[in-house]
Amino acid sequence: MEKSHTNLAKIIHWGFIILYTYGILKQIDDLSQLEDIGLLIFEVIFASVFLLIVLIRYFYMSRFETFLGAHEPVPAMHKFLAKTIHSSMYLCLVLLPITGLIIAGLFAQEIKDGPLIDSVVGLHGFAADLSYLLIAIHVVAALYSRIKGEGVWSSMVPLWKEKEPTNHEIIKKISFIERGFFEKLEGIFSYKDK
Ligand code: HEM
Ligand code: HEM
Repeated sequence: MEKSHTNLAKIIHWGFIILYTYGILKQIDDLSQLEDIGLLIFEVIFASVFLLIVLIRYFYMSRFETFLGAHEPVPAMHKFLAKTIHSSMYLCLVLLPITGLIIAGLFAQEIKDGPLIDSVVGLHGFAADLSYLLIAIHVVAALYSRIKGEGVWSSMVPLWKEKEPTNHEIIKKISFIERGFFEKLEGIFSYKDK
């Protein structure tokens, strides 16, 4: 029997995309928009709820193995890479609301320009840009895994479920080279997953 993420994990994973997309689309274009007190309060409430949901998600998900649905044991170095991407996504998802809340705090203290608020706004924008890149890598990696038919995709995605590992000769060859590469890296760094 293949392992699958729980229904709650799937609801959190897919439901969160709606919240994230909304947060990105409703973004503020200019600091001066925060002169509108109603908007400032709304932003603070939204950022607090967003932060709380990210933290709940992190603590709930941390009990599950990475590549939970994989049919074959995954090289430790490959797991390490995936975990690093996941952790970096969480870092961005926490930085976005925290820097947003700091911006709101500074603005409320009448610190509306200068190097302090500029650097926090810079960090806020950086967290957003890095999150786009990491999510793009994550989605490409998930699609690649689906093409290989490893079982990881089906553990989280309800569509286009895998039936068995691919029989495609070229994909099998690439997969073989990839496994060798990760095992070699593991040898170099003597990395062992716990
Ligand atoms: C806003 C967009 C997304 C974010 C922030 C995100 C984030 C994450 C994170 C952090 C995990 C690790 C488990 C967890 O802690 O929840 C995960 C797992 C997963 N995601 Fe996403 N994801 C996004 C979109 C997608 C999309 C569009 C796909 C598929 C096309 C996808 C496929 C998967 C799969 C297959 C797993 C399971 C990996 C495993 O079991 O190790 N994700 N996602
Ligand atoms: C989870 C909550 C939030 C998300 C997802 C979010 C998202 C974004 C994004 C994507 C940008 C554009 C960054 C760029 O152009 O590189 C942005 C800019 C900005 N956000 Fe947020 N934001 C959030 C919360 C907040 C809060 C609470 C405040 C302050 C009340 C805030 C104030 C700003 C400001 C001032 C800018 C920059 C405007 C400028 O460039 O002058 N954000 N936000």
